[in-house]
Amino acid sequence: MSKPELSIVQTLLDTGGLSTSHIGTLRFSAGSTIFKEGDDADCAYMVDSGYVEISTSAAGEKNVLAVLGDGEIFGEMALIDRQSRSATATAVHETTVVLITRQQLLEAIGNAGPLARLVLVAATKRLRMTQSTNPARTIKPDWSVNNEIRSDPYYDATRLDAAKQLRLRLALETAIKNQQFELAYQPIVTLADGRTAGFEALIRWPQPDGYAISPADFIPVAEKSGLIVPMGLWVLSQALHTLMTIDHKMGRKRDTGRGVFMSVNVSPHQLDSEENVEQLARMIEQADVNPSRVKLEITEQALLSDPRMAMLSLARLKTTGALLAIDDFGTGYSSLSYLHRFPLDTLKIDRSFVTKIADNPGGQRVVSAIIALAHELGMDVVAEGIEEIEELHWLQSHACQYGQGYFMAKPSSFATASTYLDRHFEW
Ligand code: CMP
Ligand code: MG
Repeated sequence: MSKPELSIVQTLLDTGGLSTSHIGTLRFSAGSTIFKEGDDADCAYMVDSGYVEISTSAAGEKNVLAVLGDGEIFGEMALIDRQSRSATATAVHETTVVLITRQQLLEAIGNAGPLARLVLVAATKRLRMTQSTNPARTIKPDWSVNNEIRSDPYYDATRLDAAKQLRLRLALETAIKNQQFELAYQPIVTLADGRTAGFEALIRWPQPDGYAISPADFIPVAEKSGLIVPMGLWVLSQALHTLMTIDHKMGRKRDTGRGVFMSVNVSPHQLDSEENVEQLARMIEQADVNPSRVKLEITEQALLSDPRMAMLSLARLKTTGALLAIDDFGTGYSSLSYLHRFPLDTLKIDRSFVTKIADNPGGQRVVSAIIALAHELGMDVVAEGIEEIEELHWLQSHACQYGQGYFMAKPSSFATASTYLDRHFEW
């Protein structure tokens, strides 16, 4: 089966839309110079393995300021205060460093807020001044004991966090490029008869050692770095592909729109530019699947951070014939006033409302009201996170059409999920 959709992801990577060419690890042999004092700067680095000596020279004499090891950052000053390199960096042993682009660093600093930014710029300037007026003592290059800053637990924790983020981002880029993700499918069930109405496609990132990195860890990194855009396109392309596979399996020749639907999560970043929305829309239009079986799940946050843009984005996605769902309803701003303004087909009640609903009269009133409101606005309702039969019975008797949760089935591989196509859940 052809997969033209994937070429969009590949193009993004190939054209440097993801700046992969600037990001990666670099290896330096022992004694080689990474950059020289006075050079112009366009990136910073983190030591991945080996050691980097930081030195200045005054009157022909070399002052060693520091020897940096695993996880330590250097080359950040020139980016922060927009001046030239304050010192020379040399690989002591064979050394690998992770590149931090100017854009990445400035983005991180930008996100830190004006006060944190001010502190950073001020501290950088002060260090430069201290070094120029008071040439540093040469430290003994015994990097195992000599660097006081490295034994500070607060600094240590901070740099470990930063190193983890950087490595995760790097690994994510590679994983997108090499298509190392998988989808898991969780059935969404019609509560009246136990039939599988559709699936939610959920991304998984299996690791070679069998240990999987949780989406809760990598999705925020993907969001912040913009990698969520190609990742989201990949998820959609695979989900569409799976719908075609299901049709084939069920022996359906022409897609009449009556088969199961596939829910795909769309992140706020995927809706914040016309170009991103266009890519999603075109992928749906070009797929050999009835678009009414594609349901895009959008969070409240995506709708409310820029409602005007969200309105345009949703209107475009609607023209494809796909359905739109509001995801995790009740966890965001829960501003009821916006609901009727967006062309939404489905409301998904967040699991936090569903948990223990059977013996929570207050919660029951809220959920009854949400269901009534959704129906009033012409939306159907999916309850997320059903784990117990009592929850299911309560929802069933309160006009909630669909349910999803461990009580019916956990997310699973396609092989397992496809067995839910042929049978009804019973309770
Ligand atoms: P930058 O000025 O971009 O390039 C030289 C780098 O050396 C600088 O950023 C810092 O990362 C690092 N550096 C400068 N002074 C010191 C110091 N006293 N101790 C440790 N590292 C330093
Ligand atoms: Mg979802």
